Amino acid sequence: MPATFTKSALLLALMMGLGHAQAASPISPVELATKDGIPHPAVIAHRGASFDAPESTAAAYKVARDLGADYLELDLQRSKDGVLFALHDNNLQRTTDVATKFPERKDSPANEFTWKELQTLDAGSWFNTAYPERARPGFVGLKILSLDEIIKIAEGNPQHKPGLYIETKEPKQFPGIEADLKDKLLDKGWLSSVGSKLGKSNTGVGQGKGRVVLQTFETASLKELQKEMPNTPKILLLWVGEGSIEPKSKVTFAESGEPTKAAYYAKQEPKDAAEFEKWVDEAKSLGAIGTGPSAQLTALGDQSYSDLVKPEMNQLTHDKGLLVHVYTVDEPVDFEKVMSAGVDGIFTNRAAELLKFYKRWPSSSVQDLLQDNGY
Ligand code: G3P
Ligand code: CA
Repeated sequence: MPATFTKSALLLALMMGLGHAQAASPISPVELATKDGIPHPAVIAHRGASFDAPESTAAAYKVARDLGADYLELDLQRSKDGVLFALHDNNLQRTTDVATKFPERKDSPANEFTWKELQTLDAGSWFNTAYPERARPGFVGLKILSLDEIIKIAEGNPQHKPGLYIETKEPKQFPGIEADLKDKLLDKGWLSSVGSKLGKSNTGVGQGKGRVVLQTFETASLKELQKEMPNTPKILLLWVGEGSIEPKSKVTFAESGEPTKAAYYAKQEPKDAAEFEKWVDEAKSLGAIGTGPSAQLTALGDQSYSDLVKPEMNQLTHDKGLLVHVYTVDEPVDFEKVMSAGVDGIFTNRAAELLKFYKRWPSSSVQDLLQDNGY
């Protein structure tokens, strides 16, 4: 346990007036989640089943749905002509053939392309090149998906209907995207439950009160989301760095001499206990029902960040009546670690593995589901 979060340090912070004594939440995390119609623990398929198929494509979302994931996660962007779609990166280089189709605009942000232009791109072939051991001919030519199309996928399996876990990505680039999202969800009937409640339905969270969870790193966007959709559960994503939790050390990655970003982040921690608590309080005051902190992964790698799910951090968040959904965890050793630390749900690229970890056995293998869905 790092010195910043020992009991004595927390006591000192309280004595210094950096926090105030926090009575434990009168209801448990399971009750907190259930109240909002959110499964506990929640399986959040990060960009779909993105270990097994190209991220944020129909293949990834259909497999995650058919495996039985609780949520399909997506990063929301808006095309030049106003179509809401899913893409993680700021530009199209990593996950499409934009460099071939639009060489002069290959570095342009995705929101400078019309929907018609975006639909000309191949969002699947990159995966076959990057991961030849998981490559499939059926991934070639997969398209970027609109939010409409992802909603249709979420509704498309009569046996299991996952919810949607939607991140406003770089919201400063998309003024008004929160209102656009509300209009779309309203239009599609996704801002109200459709009858069955969590626990009383075997068709999944996508039918109930917690069918949409909204997430963002940006407090300005969280405020807009709360204004537009006050009754929809929201999560404030957390990390140590610019725009979020202030680090203890101001040494940059370049100055650090660390071999990888993951090694650098592993040594980054909040400035002090009060700084961490400030962000949890901010989440609560802006109407969030929980936080989405980063994890440090055992094998490090490019999804490994600062460890913000230490047991005492999760306890503090729970004591304030908030849930903890950690990103992005793919290995059993880390599922075990973060669950032992007390998180309430996990963003994962490997929904099949997380479901197995929870002993929620998928009815078919990933390979069979890919084949059944035409990939
Ligand atoms: O949304 C949770 C997690 O996805 C945040 O990180 O960069 O993968 O969107 P990122
Ligand atoms: Ca995300």
